[in-house]
Amino acid sequence: MKVGIGADINGTQLKQALITYLSSEGYEITDYGAGDAAATMYPDVALRVCQAINSGEVERGILICGTGLGMEIAANKVKGIRAAVAEDVYSAERAILSNNAQVITMGARVIGPEVAKLCADAFLSNEFTLAGHGKASNAKVERIMQIEEEQMSY
Ligand code: RB5
Repeated sequence: MKVGIGADINGTQLKQALITYLSSEGYEITDYGAGDAAATMYPDVALRVCQAINSGEVERGILICGTGLGMEIAANKVKGIRAAVAEDVYSAERAILSNNAQVITMGARVIGPEVAKLCADAFLSNEFTLAGHGKASNAKVERIMQIEEEQMSY
């Protein structure tokens, strides 16, 4: 699976740990930045990863900032994207199984690298399928996307 990853300056270390780990697990990781002190504008990093998902360059994304919150908010502004903060394994699994999220976000000031690896695994190793959990959740996910269509003029 192709996965896009991005972080602001607060998430750079955790991002590197995840890149190393997920690559060793066989995921094809593309790093969309931003590692330097000047690159603190996390919404632009979120945008790059979300655009890569919408264009099909990668299938899923992981975004890291200090709290996971700014990245989540920014990613959810990109049309078509469903992003969820996932800082425990259950939430990371449900983000894909119930919400069909393409992106999870994490806070490097909230969780450590080992929990982050478990969360990434739980998110990436599951699929949203209509035969599975998606059967009960699909109408709700569809409704979210309908609301986006109705409310957003872009
Ligand atoms: C950290 O304070 C914050 O600005 C940033 O890393 C992110 O957590 C925003 O939500």
